[in-house]
Amino acid sequence: MPKRDFLTLTDLSLAEATRVLAIARTLKAEPKGARTGLLAGRSLAVVLEKASTRTRVSFEVGAAQLGMHPVVIGTQGSQLGRGEPIKDTARVLARYCDAIVFRTSATERLREMATAAVPVVNALSDDGHPVQVLCDVLTVEEQLGAGIAGKRIAFVGDCSSNMARSWLEAAPMFGFHLVLAGPSSYGPPPGELARAGAHVTRVEDPAHAADRCDVVNTDVWTSMGQEAEGQERTEAFSGWRVEDRMMSRAKPGAIVLHCLPAHRGEEIDEGTIEGPRSRVWDQAENRLHVQKALLVWLLGAADRVR
Ligand code: CP
Ligand code: NVA
Repeated sequence: MPKRDFLTLTDLSLAEATRVLAIARTLKAEPKGARTGLLAGRSLAVVLEKASTRTRVSFEVGAAQLGMHPVVIGTQGSQLGRGEPIKDTARVLARYCDAIVFRTSATERLREMATAAVPVVNALSDDGHPVQVLCDVLTVEEQLGAGIAGKRIAFVGDCSSNMARSWLEAAPMFGFHLVLAGPSSYGPPPGELARAGAHVTRVEDPAHAADRCDVVNTDVWTSMGQEAEGQERTEAFSGWRVEDRMMSRAKPGAIVLHCLPAHRGEEIDEGTIEGPRSRVWDQAENRLHVQKALLVWLLGAADRVR
């Protein structure tokens, strides 16, 4: 069997993603130590070229709960920071480890890491954050008590961001309707918008961002690597904060998601992130369960989870 990577959501078929989510539900329902034999003796490299709290800890802890030995390396302190080519790093890591999780900037860097002989998982790049959105699909299904297909989900804010673009990729795959709500000058690449077809609507008026939505999701206005544009972005996104007035247009049972870290008072207000609609802490927890399931699936152990 050739190795499989998870660089974008559509690296999995819908059937495969559905299986990963089912494994995640099983693992989540079990005691933490129940599966330490599943991937025993295997190792996971987690390579971070950008800051991380959730991704780092959930992969590291999740790997250990499956019996794996996780190794986390950053740019600082590794030879990557001193210019060692990614393709050389990839070849060497694959001699030691059974899978590589990689957080980076440009997609070219991710693709170069994916030349490794072992599965490579995109743990965020400039163009997408697919593990986050795969985890978020589980959160939506758990919290709304049904499949995600047919739901109306808004992403509010920077619709050119990695998060918005992974939501855009997810919409036709999982069959929900995505409302991409944000200023016109911060939209996704036109080709990606076109690929989502009738599964996406662009909204450029904040008063209608959350209209009739089941889920309202947001993210920072300034992503990692865009710090120099911070002031300009704060001005461009003013008026797009997720708060009560916006949420009053959503469905009565609508929930709020945020991949975190959040900037209270910018893209979301304190009352909303701490309020009754917020599911952000359950969302963060699901990083652990779904990523464990993804590792199990990528490493060929899915048949051992029933
Ligand atoms: N949401 C997310 O990926 O968080 P971290 O940047 O903390 O990993
Ligand atoms: N869009 C954010 C997501 C952080 C998890 C960023 O790239 O910084």
